[in-house]
Amino acid sequence: MQYLLTVLAGASTALAAPALVQRANGTIQCPIVFDGRIPTSFSANPSLFDTYATNTIYNPDYVKGTDLKWSTILKFPGGAVSRFDGADHVPVEVTISDKSIFQTQKGFRRAGLQFLKDSADGEGQKGVKTLHFSVKQDAARPLNLTHEYLNVWHETADYSANQWNFQTGTIIGQSSANKEDFKIIDRNGKSLYAVKQDKSSWQNFALKFDYTKNQLTTYYSVGDAALKLVAGPTSTNLAGGGQFQIGILKKPTGTSDVVNGGYQESNLNEGQIYGGIFLEDSSDGCVSL
Ligand SMILES: *[C@@H]1O[C@H](CO)[C@@H](O)[C@H](O)[C@H]1NC(C)=O
Ligand SMILES: *[C@@H]1O[C@H](CO)[C@@H](O)[C@H](O)[C@H]1NC(C)=O
Repeated sequence: MQYLLTVLAGASTALAAPALVQRANGTIQCPIVFDGRIPTSFSANPSLFDTYATNTIYNPDYVKGTDLKWSTILKFPGGAVSRFDGADHVPVEVTISDKSIFQTQKGFRRAGLQFLKDSADGEGQKGVKTLHFSVKQDAARPLNLTHEYLNVWHETADYSANQWNFQTGTIIGQSSANKEDFKIIDRNGKSLYAVKQDKSSWQNFALKFDYTKNQLTTYYSVGDAALKLVAGPTSTNLAGGGQFQIGILKKPTGTSDVVNGGYQESNLNEGQIYGGIFLEDSSDGCVSL
């Protein structure tokens, strides 16, 4: 063993120095309900995302362009992992292109991951749960902040509303002054928290949903720092069941019919990098920081 290490060390100095991968040191402290983190085995073999037989993490069929497979939508940009990804998981980038048209929704360009085990009236919408996700920007696939984006959200079981949205860009009908912000907005359009997009570091969010009290609490940090409570608990209507969605939904400009109409540029190549996606059980007050 010592011999092998010596040989490997000798070999690696002869080649280019290997890229240093910075390890995050956050620890998940509460029971995981849905684990959406990406194991290295999946990034090495993205076709695992394409079928129910192999995709143990996300729904292989939704919500995406009909002709696209998740193995082509998702990219694996490498680099430093986010706070809760540790040594076994990697960042994932959700991308959109001109083909990112779900069913007949020609106004949107969208690709959204849904936890495989999430269901309209399931564990994800009961008790007290905390959704964790980290975001990072890809300079090669920037979002166009003239448009409104939904990045992470929860749609009700009857598809009539979203209980809350994590968004960026120019929210239709609002000023473009804070288009560089990530914003957490409730179903009535009320802003619960906003923070400027960081173009280089991981930004870590945790949203705690108390379904018994209809309250939302937001935790946030940058880089590898521990999360801190930044907003709430705020009273907001979390009723209606449904599902989480994580990715990109880009709305068009210049229309009142955003689902079907409006303007989208051609030759789109945009992406949002995610890390550390999981839902944990906070019924006893536990939140991983
Ligand atoms: C951003 O979107 C607007 C509206 O679709 C478009 O006019 C503009 O060219 C886009 N900018 C970039 C840099 O893609
Ligand atoms: C590790 O965790 C501590 C405490 O949360 C934090 O201050 C530090 O920046 C983290 N990262 C590294 C690389 O030590």
